[in-house]
Amino acid sequence: MVTLIRTTVELVNRRNLEKKNVGFVPTMGSLHQGHISLLEKALSEFEIVYFSIFVNPLQFAPHEDFNQYPRTLENDLNLIAASLKKFPGSEVVVFAPKDSAEVFPPQNDQVISVEGLNNILEGAVRPGHFDGVATVVHRLFQLMRPNRAYFGLKDYQQYLVIKKMVKDLVLPVEVIGMPTIRENSGLALSSRNQYLTPEEKNEALTLSKSMNELASVINHKHENIKIAQSKLKRIKEDKRWNYLEIRDAFTLSEDISHSKKIAILGVFQLRETRLLDNLQVELQ
Ligand code: PAF
Repeated sequence: MVTLIRTTVELVNRRNLEKKNVGFVPTMGSLHQGHISLLEKALSEFEIVYFSIFVNPLQFAPHEDFNQYPRTLENDLNLIAASLKKFPGSEVVVFAPKDSAEVFPPQNDQVISVEGLNNILEGAVRPGHFDGVATVVHRLFQLMRPNRAYFGLKDYQQYLVIKKMVKDLVLPVEVIGMPTIRENSGLALSSRNQYLTPEEKNEALTLSKSMNELASVINHKHENIKIAQSKLKRIKEDKRWNYLEIRDAFTLSEDISHSKKIAILGVFQLRETRLLDNLQVELQ
């Protein structure tokens, strides 16, 4: 059964009745197989899964695509219902607030800032973005009180921000990172891919191809990182890169001399559309 809830009062009332543990999948809707993989993982672990669909205004700067961001509630509910058929007896409680005030009441101006991670890489290009993400996820965690919450590793920095928030604030929820789902071409699935023309979709492959090239140069060995760094410098001569960096996979520190795992993180821009991706590589 899919239950749709549009107000916070209804959500809290429903949650208070819950006797069983619950999983939680936060999304901004416009669902694709990436989101569905999170939902199905949650359903494989919990009979009751809470699922939010909320385009969070706090994580968009005034010049960004908040207004254009695709809103496809009916289609999203159909996709959820189709997935749920694989889990007889389970229930998905969808919280799709009717407006932003349901999530952020007018007098509520608490902001969660995850220092150290919120102003580098994506946070340097989009100041305030991760404060917006941490604030809404914290608020949704308070409303849903989930035992486990599921996030895509495609937004790797976001995943680390949320992990750190949960640790720093000792929140009673386990954060699970799920692998990026890709098209056969290698392009990571994203709701923003629909902004791309077919030619741009082809150009977008530069992102995953470049990351794969760097990962294969590194080949899990520390001693190869220097060669990868000079290859990366050549790749970045293409001005469509917002950034492309090799960082420690746990802290996102630039110092990777003792790293056991690294993350290659990049954003490639095609017109207004910023495509974000990453790969993590274990080091010996
Ligand atoms: O990854 C997303 O879709 C959003 O950043 C999230 C986690 C739902 C918060 O709005």
